[in-house]
Amino acid sequence: MTERETLALQLTKARKRTLRLVEIDDAELRRQYDPLMSPLVWDLAHIGWQEELWLLRDNDPRRPGMLAPDVERLYDAFQNPRASRVDLPLLPPSDARTYCATVRDKTLGVLDALPDDDPAAAFNFGLTVSHENQHDETMLQALNLRSGPPLLDPGTPLPHGRPDVAGTSVLVPGGPFLLGVDAVTEPLSLDNERPAHWVDVPSFRIARVPVTNGEWQQFIDDGGYRERRWWSERGWAHRKQAGLVAPQLWNGDGTRTRFGHVEDIPADEPVQHITYFEAEAYAAWAGARLPTEIEWEKACAWDPATGARRRFPWGASEPTDSLANLGGHALRPAPVGAYPAGASAYGAEQMLGDVWEWTSSPLRPWPGFTPMLYEQYSQPFFDGDYKVLRGGSWAVAADILRPSFRNWDHPIRRQIFSGLRLAWDA
Ligand SMILES: [Fe+2]
Repeated sequence: MTERETLALQLTKARKRTLRLVEIDDAELRRQYDPLMSPLVWDLAHIGWQEELWLLRDNDPRRPGMLAPDVERLYDAFQNPRASRVDLPLLPPSDARTYCATVRDKTLGVLDALPDDDPAAAFNFGLTVSHENQHDETMLQALNLRSGPPLLDPGTPLPHGRPDVAGTSVLVPGGPFLLGVDAVTEPLSLDNERPAHWVDVPSFRIARVPVTNGEWQQFIDDGGYRERRWWSERGWAHRKQAGLVAPQLWNGDGTRTRFGHVEDIPADEPVQHITYFEAEAYAAWAGARLPTEIEWEKACAWDPATGARRRFPWGASEPTDSLANLGGHALRPAPVGAYPAGASAYGAEQMLGDVWEWTSSPLRPWPGFTPMLYEQYSQPFFDGDYKVLRGGSWAVAADILRPSFRNWDHPIRRQIFSGLRLAWDA
């Protein structure tokens, strides 16, 4: 398949996913399920607007677009904070769908006419694929917070786990490794993943799999949320102020609510919907710590036998259903131990997919950082208050995920599909 064909396929896949998520009635699309989230109809038209701006208007908002200037302004994420979007005079759902379809028609034409060797143009298409898929995950977060009877089925089946791997760890011996990627090895990687550079990492141990719900329950039973000593100062202040006593969407009776489905909490599934502060407290209680994002990436991507990075934890082959839980169809993480074939060179499992893993690192640029076309993607978030999450969740599309992929959020956020993996000094 040519790069053009691959990008066309990825665009089409992402759009199918978006349209499936907005296959609900107009009143639902206009609702705001939580002040942290946008009404889904905003995400829909915003996806089309960014695509038009990047691929049809050369990223220049002064160039005429398909929407009136006072309408397109509504879809600029930086001008319209999430909480305010429900009050905007947004395009009606049918107009938003038509707009997205019209843009897509034209962008596929542009892609068709793209010369074979134009890495910059191909990058912009890759960015568009990434952006749409990232919004699909955001829309899933919104739908998960919706109250009332479920709109989505409980999700597709997942492989069985190996519960005995919970609580085990692997050694990552010290030594230099190549952190990050570049335009040659990963042409579609985003600005904050570049450039590749050597770093020296002392030996450490990292958990084979993420922390499970069963383990988290032990933390609760042991008074983890009541004991000040496990929490950082900011973490404790937030815990008290927000009244945290368990992960979000746990109901206090051994059940949880997931996309409106009330079900028993599966003990061997990675815990999700925890803040950074909770992850940090859990790690302290467990006699461990969170990994740095550099440690995390080494454990995921480095192959000490060849002295080179692997494209994926398991090797060079593209992700499949037997290697990782990605793509959003499962609507939940897979039990720990479900993907032995997806292990990294060091034996760490489920590094990609399932849950985003909090690391102890604030988001910072790698040395030599250069912003990409979408300048506001990373740069405004380098101020130190955002913690990095790694590895993607079950809701991330396989097309956009790499071991170098960096996500970040405020340490108090937990509507995201966030969990953790422990680490120790060796
Ligand atoms: Fe966006």
